[in-house]
Amino acid sequence: MLPSPLERVDRLGAALGMEPGALWVKRDDLTGLGGGGNKARKLEYLCADAVAQGADILVTGGGPQSNHVRMTAAAANRLGLGCAVVMAGPRPTTSTGNVLLVELFDPTVTWLGVNEGPMDYYAIEAAIDETADRLAAEGRRPYRMPIGGASAVGALGYVRAAAELREQVAGPMGGVDVVVVAGGSGGTHAGLAAGLGDLGMVLGVDVGARGDLDTQVPAKAAQAAALAGLPAPVGRVRVDHHRVGAGYGAATEECRRAVLLAARSEGMILDPVYTGKAMAGLIGARRDGSIGPASRTVFLHTGGMPALFAGAYAAWGRDADGGGDALLSD
Ligand SMILES: Cc1ncc(COP(=O)(O)O)c(C=O)c1O
Repeated sequence: MLPSPLERVDRLGAALGMEPGALWVKRDDLTGLGGGGNKARKLEYLCADAVAQGADILVTGGGPQSNHVRMTAAAANRLGLGCAVVMAGPRPTTSTGNVLLVELFDPTVTWLGVNEGPMDYYAIEAAIDETADRLAAEGRRPYRMPIGGASAVGALGYVRAAAELREQVAGPMGGVDVVVVAGGSGGTHAGLAAGLGDLGMVLGVDVGARGDLDTQVPAKAAQAAALAGLPAPVGRVRVDHHRVGAGYGAATEECRRAVLLAARSEGMILDPVYTGKAMAGLIGARRDGSIGPASRTVFLHTGGMPALFAGAYAAWGRDADGGGDALLSD
């Protein structure tokens, strides 16, 4: 449901040593489609492109707990299109989190098998291409989407979100200095930077999906801006690479504590793969001073809650203190 709400989060801000009214959250977890999340905005443009091209089946892929795959399968059902997806890793014996939801939506799923890691980006992209080629050879009209819907067309969804945000912040916040967002494929970051017109206004927090966000994001931002009829964004790309831990989806203690802090200060649910790490990035930026106590800051909540129920994080709520002071002082 758009526009998504922009919520003032003073209790979380106080825990991070921020002044009242400085920290806000844009709730793109509430976009609605198939459980919600940032991909709804990209899919709006991608699906319009697919329909305009006469496609009869959407083809995409992702990691085993991909939110993008879940939401693409939901979008296909809403539009009466087919959907084929490739997912990294072996098929899990128990369907949890996004896997359960993907099965509800019922796309054709190809599991890449035991030889692939949880997020072998280039193997998944190659498998998306192979699947689309095979479907075309069988007489279907596939529309292929990269992982995360990270094409320039998909990023247009976030060019528009930036305009929506600018309108929302104009009143209560009097503008925005920085937007903090998780960076998977980098498409959301790129679209936002294109729409805001300044790469320096977006802090992307790398979650370990791909290693080249520093070059990908500005390139995609320039492409998205051109598509939207805007000038290429000024400034330098900002990516925090320090929150990944052992890799994509790997649990980190600072992510867990960030999830607890949001839950206990604001009743807000983050996820262990994207938004928890993005919040850890915001905490890091407060700690190193790159975001100041009065910086008008918007944390973009991109969704991802189903992954909390994937099993690996089942004990995250236990025996831990979610106190903000401790977070800033360690
Ligand atoms: C919940 C969530 N947050 C953030 C992202 C990152 O978005 P992007 O792939 O556009 O960088 C994704 C998608 O991968 C996601 O599912």
